[in-house]
Amino acid sequence: MKKPDKKAWFQGGAAVCANPPDPPVGAPWRLVLLGAPGVGKGAQATLLCERLGACHLSTGEMLRAASCEGSRVRSPALRTALANMRKGALVPDDIMLELVSLRRHCLRCSGGFVLDGFPRTVAQAEALDVLLGREGLALDAVFDYELPVEEVVARLAGRRICPGCGAVYHVTGRPPQRAGICDACGKRLVQREDDRPEAIHERMRLYGENTRPLLDWYGRKGLLVTVPANGTPDEVYARTWISGRTMRAAAATNGG
Ligand code: AP5
Repeated sequence: MKKPDKKAWFQGGAAVCANPPDPPVGAPWRLVLLGAPGVGKGAQATLLCERLGACHLSTGEMLRAASCEGSRVRSPALRTALANMRKGALVPDDIMLELVSLRRHCLRCSGGFVLDGFPRTVAQAEALDVLLGREGLALDAVFDYELPVEEVVARLAGRRICPGCGAVYHVTGRPPQRAGICDACGKRLVQREDDRPEAIHERMRLYGENTRPLLDWYGRKGLLVTVPANGTPDEVYARTWISGRTMRAAAATNGG
């Protein structure tokens, strides 16, 4: 399956993807992934998108792509967003909503979407409802990945990313073939600034305070599916897929 370049998501505004996903055989999937920082949402989003043909819309990845661009193209709002991200704080809702709103056409992507990292607060979930409502779209499911905190911290502490192509590795769980070097593009791997211990602590705290309330929010809407995130990425994916298929079949039976 071809890999979308996600230019529209990374640049926003009038930018158009050179390589959009092919429309899927059945109805496109529109999903939200929730879970603590480092639980494996990005890994699952990658697998879901490869297999469902959807587009991976990660707000963290969008911000990291912006941080690699020259500082002259950064607006004051974007500079605030990147400063917050580096220290593990949330980007303020008004800035985040403006960035997502500039990319709202990605919600209409022909292949569907997997939102990873958005929404992260109840205000963002309300705004997403409005954006989707305007487009006449609805979510199929919201997956919440759960893992004991020690395992989450181990996943974060061992994560290394490629600053060139964004590939994600783990020093023990998913090491590159040559230590410290990206298999895909040969660049030297780095640790994300917000994967330092003090930033991890802050991200976990903010997750509990701001994002956990979304579990009730989506639970009340009948969209929430809790997925144990232990095991290999493929094992977690298999659980996700079975739950998603069951949820969609139930919605179809109930005329949803
Ligand atoms: P973002 O990039 O969204 O970070 P996050 O939610 O904290 O999630 P992570 O990317 O850290 O982890 P993940 O769950 O995707 O795990 P991964 O798959 O990489 O956001 C970064 C920052 O941007 C935020 O802190 C905030 O400042 C800002 N931001 C973004 N969106 C925002 C919003 N909406 N509002 C406000 N601020 C916003 O996996 C982690 C590691 O584990 C990897 O090494 C991976 O290889 C490994 N791994 C994955 N799955 C498994 C498995 N099953 N078994 C073993 N290892 C695994």
